Amino acid sequence: MSDYRMSTKCVQSGYTPGNGEPRQIPIIQSTTFKYDTGEDMGKLFDLEASGYFYTRLQNPTNDYVAAKIADLEGGTAAMLTSSGQAANFFALFNICEAGSHIVSSSSIYGGTFNLISVTMKKMGIDVTFVSPDCTAEELNAAFLDNTRAVFGETIANPALTVLDIEKFAQAAHAHGVPLIVDNTFATPVNCRPIEWGADIVTHSTTKYMDGHGAAVGGAIVDSGKFDWMAEKDKFPGLCTPDESYHGITYAERFGNEGAFITKATAQMMRDLGCIQSPQNAFLLNLGLESLHVRMPRHVENGQAVAEFLKDHPKVVSVSYSGLPSDRYYEAAQKYLPKGGCGVVSFEIQGGREAAEVFMKNLKLAAIETHVADARTCCLNPASTTHRQMTEEQLAQAGIPAGLIRISCGLEDKEDLIADLAQALEAV
Ligand SMILES: Cc1ncc(COP(=O)(O)O)c(C=O)c1O
Repeated sequence: MSDYRMSTKCVQSGYTPGNGEPRQIPIIQSTTFKYDTGEDMGKLFDLEASGYFYTRLQNPTNDYVAAKIADLEGGTAAMLTSSGQAANFFALFNICEAGSHIVSSSSIYGGTFNLISVTMKKMGIDVTFVSPDCTAEELNAAFLDNTRAVFGETIANPALTVLDIEKFAQAAHAHGVPLIVDNTFATPVNCRPIEWGADIVTHSTTKYMDGHGAAVGGAIVDSGKFDWMAEKDKFPGLCTPDESYHGITYAERFGNEGAFITKATAQMMRDLGCIQSPQNAFLLNLGLESLHVRMPRHVENGQAVAEFLKDHPKVVSVSYSGLPSDRYYEAAQKYLPKGGCGVVSFEIQGGREAAEVFMKNLKLAAIETHVADARTCCLNPASTTHRQMTEEQLAQAGIPAGLIRISCGLEDKEDLIADLAQALEAV
């Protein structure tokens, strides 16, 4: 459906029923699939025929939804994973191994930071973190001979920095490696990183794509643009025979369009699992059907809340790239012309205590670790996720004690502002 516009793709891409078939994506709740002969099945194992044999690797419901996400992002192939964490791990580990090195923006989700800096480090994969605001020279200086991937988030959680995707893509390509962009917060409705040079796009579909806080999930999309064979010494996993999979050379057999996702399915899903359940894929698709309607409303509410907070005497500062005063306003005008997302960060006067009083008095916004769904929620890192830190440690980490992250849902913006106003009044 790649000729259609975003709204049509959100509703209809990925699944086209034949005559008399279900209009809605069927949930194929089956672990396995039946064949008439062992030979038929053997061809599937050899990747000579396409089809399904075991849901740990692939399932039709998931593939319908993955095909929709590939179309939304403008990619050639995609897969669903059990979570956003699994998506980022698979995307990186598909091309990295012990002895590899990653260049990553330092402004990324804490779980991903931990994955790369602690868990992948234990696997022998090193990382150099760079500021998303670094110069091209500083970025180029971070590359080593064993660098195999560059990583960043379009809009980072929770710092809300906006990635200069072109700058990161140019540096990655100059060093013969792909750029992987986590596009969770912007979604393809507001930014399509592949159009700016990203090679692989990942998602925590748990957030806006599902949009209702119903199902944890992830997705990986391949742009099909990275020429693996041109860098075959760097990517032996894609460019030399996989002895664990009948000697297949993924880049030769499936080309630039299909090699990355086929390898991640055939090898990583086989060995590590992490498949999304078909039931969750079905729920995800319900969310995707309205993504193009919901994102503008999240942006409208985020913008209104940011503007209200910016002028409030009890607010020290506000981060939201839709505000002309924001450090990332210009980058957002370039990469996010329709707006970014509904997540706003602000610092309340009076630190941790003031934040606690404020949040306790909110009636609509619930205190949650989640973000990016239909219901407004908020979090004070200093009293929750980072509560073990002292005031000094918080300051060093760039997290003021009074910092509050608010994820604006789909409620009426006047009601949200009134709720914030009365809670600020109570402080
Ligand atoms: C930008 C981003 N990427 C990845 C993740 C991890 O996703 P999940 O919680 O679905 O594993 C999150 C979670 O908050 C996130 O915000």
